[in-house]
Amino acid sequence: MADTSDRWSTDELALLKSMRVPSGTPAKADPSNRVATSVNAAQLGKRLFADPRFSRNGAIACASCHAVDRQFEDGRPLAIGLGTGVRRTMPVVGVAGSPWLFWDGRKDSVWSQAIGPIEDHNEHAGTRLRAAHVLAEHYRGEYESLFGPLPNLSALPRDAGPLGTDIEKAAWRALDERTRTDVSRVFANLGKAIAAYEATLQYGPSNFDTYVEGVLTGDPGKLAVLSAVEKAGLRLFMSKGQCVTCHTGPMLSDRQFHNIGVPPRSGVASDTGRAAAVDKVLRDEFNCMGPFSDARPEQCEELQFISTDDPQMLAAFKTPSLRNVALRPPYMHAGQFASLEAVMRHYADAPAAAIGHSELKKIALSDEEQRQLVALLGAFSGPIVER
Ligand code: HEC
Ligand code: HEC
Repeated sequence: MADTSDRWSTDELALLKSMRVPSGTPAKADPSNRVATSVNAAQLGKRLFADPRFSRNGAIACASCHAVDRQFEDGRPLAIGLGTGVRRTMPVVGVAGSPWLFWDGRKDSVWSQAIGPIEDHNEHAGTRLRAAHVLAEHYRGEYESLFGPLPNLSALPRDAGPLGTDIEKAAWRALDERTRTDVSRVFANLGKAIAAYEATLQYGPSNFDTYVEGVLTGDPGKLAVLSAVEKAGLRLFMSKGQCVTCHTGPMLSDRQFHNIGVPPRSGVASDTGRAAAVDKVLRDEFNCMGPFSDARPEQCEELQFISTDDPQMLAAFKTPSLRNVALRPPYMHAGQFASLEAVMRHYADAPAAAIGHSELKKIALSDEEQRQLVALLGAFSGPIVER
């Protein structure tokens, strides 16, 4: 039954409405990726996502770290591929439309993000030219029907790329510029197909979404899906806890960057986060304004209006989505916290940041309030759907 715990102000109602998971709407098109919403590209991308042949040892695929049965994560504090990384794996569900990718936002599209791991020495540790060879050998038909003819790679070495070993870098420099551009274009297209697949991965409705429907329609059955404790948690989330200032919108993330004073992992140097990424994304040949983007420059607003000298960006990280958060510990950019209880203690303590300045205000959350928030976070869990 509707009671006082289900009464929300007009402002809160508008916010709650905007936080519901979208139902069935197709993924937003990305002007920098002309195959972003192509079904054929998504089908190809799904196979590429699971294919370990792009990696140096033939054993690492995107799906090794982003496992379908683990919320598209790996459950580890730090990712392990060919080496151990310095940050936690992020879920890929619902990333389409995110203006910035990675914890620090050093990529400005899902497709340019997708090719990053393939050349990263800690992840696939592959090379650009190897990626083109694998596509030519195993996916020629599907690739060419989407992107046109592949360049002739038969005379080229197996491995070459600007980020590989010294030998691979030298092999890359030895290619003429035209060939390098052709190979880089194939590499970009690989990312575009994977991005089309990622755009099909979305969160379905959670109890939170059903409850909001209940608030909007007065349906008592829907209002009853949240317990009293979860409703108390939602009240805190929307008001005293100030969670909704950053965890807002359908993904429960503003998709922007904040320093919230999460301590660095012991023995690991502080991560400067967003501050070091702005330059990287501006210089990235695979950004929205670059030669491999399908966008016109004026469609690259995020990149054009990027703020380059904001002191707040030191040790700031992208606000993670809270969808399905209870199903995928550990938490934070380097897996610093093993449980949601530990996350809530962090918000209650609001410690000063190791570097930069924490945006968190001291809000004195009691133990009971922390429990209520943890209960609410569980109500954000729902199915993952492939649309
Ligand atoms: C070795 C484990 C590993 C592999 C392999 C890997 N990833 Fe990731 N992924 C990560 C980590 C760690 C991060 C966060 C890294 C960072 O922020 O610096 C991440 C971040 C992402 C993100 C950003 C999500 C967001 O919200 O910004 C996407 C998308 C993604 N990976 C997709 C992929 C794709 C596609 C592949 C295959 C081409 C792949 N990953 C391969 C570990 C991995
Ligand atoms: C100032 C913006 C801001 C506010 C306010 C805020 N958060 Fe966060 N939240 C973040 C950022 C940024 C991270 C990631 C920080 C990092 O890894 O360094 C995060 C991480 C989290 C995580 C871990 C998710 C994951 O996948 O690792 C949870 C859970 C969480 N917040 C819940 C809450 C709750 C509950 C509140 C209110 C008490 C709250 N947040 C208030 C920005 C905010």
